[in-house]
Amino acid sequence: MNYLLTGAAGFIGSHLAVNLLKDGNRVFAIDNFCDFYSLDKKRKNIEIIGKSSGRDDLFRLYEGDIRDSSFLKKTLGDILKTQVKSEDLTVIHIAAMPGVRPSLENPALYVDVNINGTLNMLEICREFGLKRFLFASSSSVYGNNKKAPFSEDDPAENPISVYAATKKAGELMCHTYSNLYDISVICLRYFTVYGARQRPDLAIYRFTDLLSKGRPITVFGDGSSRRDYTYIDDIIDGTRKAVVRLENDRPAFEIYNLGESRTVELSYLIKLIEKELGKKANMVRKPGQPGDMAITYADISRAKEVLGYNPKTDIEDGIKLFVRWYKESETS
Ligand SMILES: NC(=O)c1ccc[n+]([C@@H]2O[C@H](COP(=O)([O-])OP(=O)(O)OC[C@H]3O[C@@H](n4cnc5c(N)ncnc54)[C@H](O)[C@@H]3O)[C@@H](O)[C@H]2O)c1
Repeated sequence: MNYLLTGAAGFIGSHLAVNLLKDGNRVFAIDNFCDFYSLDKKRKNIEIIGKSSGRDDLFRLYEGDIRDSSFLKKTLGDILKTQVKSEDLTVIHIAAMPGVRPSLENPALYVDVNINGTLNMLEICREFGLKRFLFASSSSVYGNNKKAPFSEDDPAENPISVYAATKKAGELMCHTYSNLYDISVICLRYFTVYGARQRPDLAIYRFTDLLSKGRPITVFGDGSSRRDYTYIDDIIDGTRKAVVRLENDRPAFEIYNLGESRTVELSYLIKLIEKELGKKANMVRKPGQPGDMAITYADISRAKEVLGYNPKTDIEDGIKLFVRWYKESETS
């Protein structure tokens, strides 16, 4: 099969690219290498993808911005003229400006990339007749809902950060295009993803990095906030299963939660990292941050039933694997 994958140089996108290539699929990747975090890490991710397939003809990177519709048209023109037919190309739209707190500092950028960029990707589908679209959404759309675990039918109209609002807007845009132009769409609401090559701004990476260097860690709130942490291999497995559903069943528009369906206190997470590193954290407490949710917790019964999603890595094993990767990557 053939995939147009945006955000391939990032954390989740690079894992997905490696996984697709391993099965002999062809991946046309788009990324603009934005400077949200180290470009070295993103270039390294692309190197890892390039080496993973063992065949030069299966992976092609188009460096450019999803906000630039003429770049997108040129890229699609090139792919469809020379390499594949539109009916054989599935779009996996992973690229975004991620992160809750930074979205409050630069809301216009988040709106531009996450809403206008997503609109451009859907417009490309309309214009070039692409009929399958997967969108990386987020647990953040549930806002401060009181009912937990969160199910896909729960209200998601009350986002509490700019980032969350852009993800919800992306879902709405997906629904509209699905309805207007017969594009089959699946939105995946990812719950805090971690593992090798994780984004360095995320808590698990930050805490591991600071603790291992003997530096203090800043903890926002009293440590009682809870997250459903999802190991990267489970996210990739769920995403691949959603892609299979798009290809085999052509649903009109569907939403699935992808999490571990277990919610863990921040203070417990820190204990796990301390245990793996054999170090005690020196914690600097700060008040909870605006935009941060009190809890995330995925009801995954729909993904289990329809997609056959079955996450396997609990947080205890996942942190072991993460810390092992962190130590190796620091010495390589
Ligand atoms: N990591 C998580 O815990 C998590 C949770 C929920 C949802 N998500 C969503 O999953 C997706 C991937 O997240 P990630 O953690 O891998 O982030 P990431 O920052 O590692 O990857 C995003 C990639 O998109 C690229 N990108 C950003 N703006 C672009 C633009 N204008 N044009 C082209 N490319 C652009 C970046 O350069 C980067 O390589 C995002 O849509 C994010 O919102 C992630």
